[in-house]
Amino acid sequence: MAEPKQTGTEVSEAQIAVHWKEEETYQPASSFIAQANLTDSNVLERYGLDNFPNCFKEYADLLDWYEYWHTTLDHSKPPYWKWFVGGKLNACYNCVDRHLPKYKNKTALHFVPEPEEERIEHITFQELYVRVNEFAALLRDFAGLKRGDRVTLHMPMTVDLPITMLACARLGVIHSQVFSGFSGKACADRIVDSQSRVLITEDAYYRGGKLIDHKEKADIAVAEAEKEGQKVDKVLIWQRYPGKYSAETPTVEGRDFFVNDVLKNYKRAVVEPERMLSEEVLFLMYTSGTTGKPKGAQHSIGGYMAYVTGTSKFIQDIHPEDVYWCMADIGWITGHSYIVYGPLALAASSVIFEGVPTHPDAGRPWRVAEELDVNIFHTSPTAIRALRRVGPDEPAKYNYDFKHMTTVGEPIEPEVWRWYYNVVGKKKAVIVDTWWQTETGGFLCSTVPALHAMKPGSAGPGVPGIHPIIFDDDGKPLPAGCGKAGNICIQNPWPGLMQTIWGDDERFVSQYYRRYCKNPDSKDWRDWPYFAGDGAVEAPDGYFRILGRIDDVINVAGHRLGTKELESAALMVSEVGEAAVVPVADPIKGKIPHVFVSLKPGIPASKEIEQSITDKLASEIGPIAKPGRVWIVPDMPKTRSGKIMRRVLAAVANKQDTGDTTTLANPDVVEKIKQLA
Ligand code: PRX
Repeated sequence: MAEPKQTGTEVSEAQIAVHWKEEETYQPASSFIAQANLTDSNVLERYGLDNFPNCFKEYADLLDWYEYWHTTLDHSKPPYWKWFVGGKLNACYNCVDRHLPKYKNKTALHFVPEPEEERIEHITFQELYVRVNEFAALLRDFAGLKRGDRVTLHMPMTVDLPITMLACARLGVIHSQVFSGFSGKACADRIVDSQSRVLITEDAYYRGGKLIDHKEKADIAVAEAEKEGQKVDKVLIWQRYPGKYSAETPTVEGRDFFVNDVLKNYKRAVVEPERMLSEEVLFLMYTSGTTGKPKGAQHSIGGYMAYVTGTSKFIQDIHPEDVYWCMADIGWITGHSYIVYGPLALAASSVIFEGVPTHPDAGRPWRVAEELDVNIFHTSPTAIRALRRVGPDEPAKYNYDFKHMTTVGEPIEPEVWRWYYNVVGKKKAVIVDTWWQTETGGFLCSTVPALHAMKPGSAGPGVPGIHPIIFDDDGKPLPAGCGKAGNICIQNPWPGLMQTIWGDDERFVSQYYRRYCKNPDSKDWRDWPYFAGDGAVEAPDGYFRILGRIDDVINVAGHRLGTKELESAALMVSEVGEAAVVPVADPIKGKIPHVFVSLKPGIPASKEIEQSITDKLASEIGPIAKPGRVWIVPDMPKTRSGKIMRRVLAAVANKQDTGDTTTLANPDVVEKIKQLA
């Protein structure tokens, strides 16, 4: 098969020999094991490749089906896998309606506003049912949305967001939620790609003590989308304080509508859940890839719901009586799978936190945990590093009791892991380090919390039913314990895996399957390993340590940013001739982007140009894309064929050795760039 496009990194992960110090392991507490959902030590055998794909019946059986499926896995058209074929279900019904007989008065969602003086809202399953039905009626009858339509959500962390998602799911409308921190322009690109004619937003939200006007981004999004040929005819605006408009931006007559006003016409409406086919689409989640355009990972209903429910039960150890808090944003896949769909399908109480964890101080998360009796806590290494830096002794001051904690989104340093375990988890909570991706729907590698020892910095083996393998660049498997890093792949399909890239099957195949496909004509799933795009190393005990992306993607605080997206934003500044973006190690965020630019001839470097580049990245993509530094360089280091050597730039920015640069077309420029450091 064709080799993938050469990326910016000249030394591939597979060539790096890794000499990690093996960390000591930690055993799960017996109090945890005594109550755990999964304690059967035969589980990995039960989910072995010999029993594939039937093992996943156990996951599907956690759901209620209108019609039971007849085929577990249809693999007649690789790599377009179809799970639980013939089955009919509704995701909203599984998260809400089916819990009413037993749990209607139990809290489904705790909404914790950022301002501490505001009351926490506790929404029962009954109340959730009422709100979701009323909003579904509005979407159907007022917005004219129906099964299969796409709708873009650009909503912050309020309880209105899961209500909106569930209302869409009830109708069979495909939601595409865009992270609220993304700019209006980024939202527009996703509106266009998904062909949404309705945008759902919120007027304002709190972040770091400020009530931010969010509506202004909707205006930009609609205008930009229209320029690209996609008309949005309705903007539905939830209000942070229902009945009061909290944004300064004016509304547009005939296009903008306050949800709260329109909802009055749908009081006590009840909408029958659509009986959806297992393989119909639940949502799109856009993520960065190696080219500029974000790609919409398309997730199914049956496979996805089965997978997130199963992994929430077995890896997150969620029981209905648990209070579960995942501090991610619902605008990312973690929030979809492990704040909304997985926990609610299991009737847990899920916490939604509006704000910044360190605001007003680093004790805030632990006060929330104490007040709500949170017993399962889920966050990212970036948040853990920040809390450790500003409030290392804070957790000890609060009386909460975690049984289980998760880390997700980026590699965690063993030192940071140990603080999480000793101080946050009080040496009692079990930790799972879960490795996965937007594309994969749910976890790929993690320890099973009651069965496996924990190892700081290692995600662990594949979760039940997931069979990872590391290949070198030539497609040769690298055995456990060989000390070499390579490209981690998954040998088998699984129900949570995306179906394709929305509207771009070719990209789906070329990005995830072409590299290691053994035979493109084969209908046997064994010939189609999934290529994740991460470098990894497997220890002798079968635990995987994930090293990070091998493509042109920078993982900033657990969020994927494509270097190409950042570079194209920098190139929009008129003085910029060439731009190259590289990842630089950061003590809190893991990695941050540095932008290198050379200016058009005759233009002198200035602080103003640096500032306009920073501003451009923030306005095009969002504040998370703000570079740590803009370097204006006299010229880019280039190969003789004219390719920018990002590796050299990355070495300078990371204060590392630039290695041999004599083969460059312009080796002297490297010295000049070093002097800028
Ligand atoms: O590089 C891996 C890293 O995050 C990427 C996926 O990012 P995204 O699609 O935004 O999903 C984030 C939430 C799952 C991966 O390709 N990554 C994710 N989890 C871990 C990780 N790196 C190391 N350890 C993890 N636990």
